[in-house]
Amino acid sequence: MGQKRWLSLLAIFACLLFVACGRVLKLKSDDGQPVYNHTLAITLVQYTSAVYMSDLTKLYTWTCERCNGLTKGFQVIEIIVDVEHCLQAYVGVAKDLNAIIIAFRGTQEHSIQNWVSDLFWKQLDLNYPDMPDAMVHHGFYSAYHNTTVRPAVLDAVKRAKKFHGANLNIMVTGHSMGGAMASFCGLDLVVNEGEENVQVMTFGQPRIGNSAFASYYNMLVPNTFRIIHDHDIVPHLPPYYRIFPQKTYHHFPTEVWVKELSILNIVIIGVETVCDNSGEDPTCSRSVRGSSISDHLMYFGVELMGETWRQCNIVRSPEMDSYSRKDSKGNIFLSRTVPSTEVIETNTPSKTGISSL
Ligand SMILES: *[C@@H]1O[C@H](CO)[C@@H](O)[C@H](O)[C@H]1NC(C)=O
Ligand SMILES: *[C@@H]1O[C@H](CO)[C@@H](O)[C@H](O)[C@H]1NC(C)=O
Repeated sequence: MGQKRWLSLLAIFACLLFVACGRVLKLKSDDGQPVYNHTLAITLVQYTSAVYMSDLTKLYTWTCERCNGLTKGFQVIEIIVDVEHCLQAYVGVAKDLNAIIIAFRGTQEHSIQNWVSDLFWKQLDLNYPDMPDAMVHHGFYSAYHNTTVRPAVLDAVKRAKKFHGANLNIMVTGHSMGGAMASFCGLDLVVNEGEENVQVMTFGQPRIGNSAFASYYNMLVPNTFRIIHDHDIVPHLPPYYRIFPQKTYHHFPTEVWVKELSILNIVIIGVETVCDNSGEDPTCSRSVRGSSISDHLMYFGVELMGETWRQCNIVRSPEMDSYSRKDSKGNIFLSRTVPSTEVIETNTPSKTGISSL
């Protein structure tokens, strides 16, 4: 009896919280700020989960075990496996979202613990080009900018637009290290490619730059949400030192903190808080000592890791040869270079190049 009363009280409490959140969101939309969309978040987390799959054929044909649910009907345009640096990403089109999706995989090192410990010592050691005072971490920057990933992603975006129309939105997503890459990609698309409808949503990403960088980023890619799951350790790294404001890493906005409400060790509900526009809201994830690796590997109940922790585990099939190529360094690209038949049937071709934006 007692437990039942507890649960109904809890349910009422949860409802009140959601009403409260709903009000916050509405206020935000009134002043023209981007609005956090929970449905989109649980859709993009599934796209982010799929990029960890190692069977490239099943990923390409979107038949992998994680290629389902809210991502059904997705069409892959390009899969990039940078074998040299152990990176994986894909680009494709989600018609139901009217969007190009770009997803980046997180680290696949043998030990996530080691990767996380290394994060403590990452330096702000690179000036972001053409942004005075903006500093970032060289390694995160290079993973996107100085590998085979960037040219392949940008080329695939152009192909996606050619096949499916130039007015598609672009949604960039990734988890962990992949979230860092997604942020650099989103910024790159705006700054260097002149893209206008870019939004970024990352899951458990580390800090990547200083506060000057965060300001530029926020100005250029305002439609960005960084989701943080409860006590996930990675968003707390590299550390934020309040006493060295000029030297410290600083997240860009907007954080969405998903805190779990549990009773008797049973998770009842995830309460989402859309945090302030500072990037370092002290009442959100920073209000707890984030030290959990398991919270890092699961977002909205979706697993964000590979099937195994093995350096760049890749499953190739013989039939892959017809649509894949390898460069001289052994990096692998699976490319759709002509629109699929389904696209030809349903898309009215517009050869004029005039899009009604
Ligand atoms: C939220 O995103 C979903 C797609 O995931 C979309 O269908 C829906 O219209 C969006 N809601 C708002 C309020 O924009
Ligand atoms: C890019 O990578 C190459 C080789 O991997 C390296 O020599 C070069 O210094 C890197 N450039 C930057 C800007 O990081």
